[in-house]
Amino acid sequence: MIFIDSSKCTGCGQCTRVCPFTVLRLNQEGKAENTGKKCIACMHCAAICPAEAITYDSRPAVAEKTQPLPEDCSTTVKQLIYQRRSYRRFLKKKVPGDILRAALDAAENAPSAKNEHPVRWIILESEEIRQCIMDWILEYCRENQVSMELISEYANGNNPVMGENAVIIIGICRRNSINPAQDTAIALTSAELLLQAEGIGTCWGGYLTRFLNLIPECRMVLEIPEGYEVYGTLLAGYPDRQNYRYLPARKKAEIKII
Ligand SMILES: Cc1cc2nc3c(=O)[nH]c(=O)nc-3n(C[C@H](O)[C@H](O)[C@H](O)COP(=O)(O)O)c2cc1C
Ligand code: SF4
Ligand code: SF4
Repeated sequence: MIFIDSSKCTGCGQCTRVCPFTVLRLNQEGKAENTGKKCIACMHCAAICPAEAITYDSRPAVAEKTQPLPEDCSTTVKQLIYQRRSYRRFLKKKVPGDILRAALDAAENAPSAKNEHPVRWIILESEEIRQCIMDWILEYCRENQVSMELISEYANGNNPVMGENAVIIIGICRRNSINPAQDTAIALTSAELLLQAEGIGTCWGGYLTRFLNLIPECRMVLEIPEGYEVYGTLLAGYPDRQNYRYLPARKKAEIKII
């Protein structure tokens, strides 16, 4: 629960203006107070408070101090967004665990419906388990006559499901989370940009996400708990080729202004 130290509060009211659910208000003494309404623990009030008057009972309400962004930051972000590409073939070189952790820690900073942050992560490194999963997927396709292109691609040495030598980041959420699909997508997008900024190639695993949910053996080997579902997967690794020389042509955004 949010606690306001009234001896520190100057009554500037900034916390009340950033609170998304009017949990905070200024009282008759001109001090901020907690109304007791449902709080989503977004910590915006503590992050903006100039008097460091706000704490949260069981965990710290703020992390590091924000730093002014460097002047060329918008250029860098724009470059990163435009130059991000999907990579599918990787070197047999392990992506360091601290880089993966840093990307997923940063992903916790992404927007999340009601600040729920429902995504839990599984990092699949084991070559043996990846191969088992791939075999089950091919068997599933053959038996159910679905995504038959995967069978011929795989026979030709191309794997659109798992790429080549990828470490696989798997995002799972409880099915009854508020907005699991979008929360996972935004978190993975943030992680992807951070990884690509570190020189790690990435590719979304749409096929993989679908089949992990469809095939019980996959769920079992990944120890996905009851009530959870895979909402996104990202293949990652050191790309086996140089950076692209050009940006690929893309359609222009369709926009209607009303
Ligand atoms: C939700 C989603 C699912 C995707 N699934 C796959 C996939 O299963 N296999 C694959 O090779 N690429 C997959 N991709 C990558 C797209 O093919 C790729 O983003 C698109 O071709 C554009 O290329 P770019 O990312 O380099 O701009 C997926 C992308 C998204 C956003
Ligand atoms: S932001 Fe801090 S100082 Fe300002 S009203 Fe809220 S608690 Fe008080
Ligand atoms: S655009 Fe080129 S790289 Fe992309 S699918 Fe077609 S042939 Fe392959």
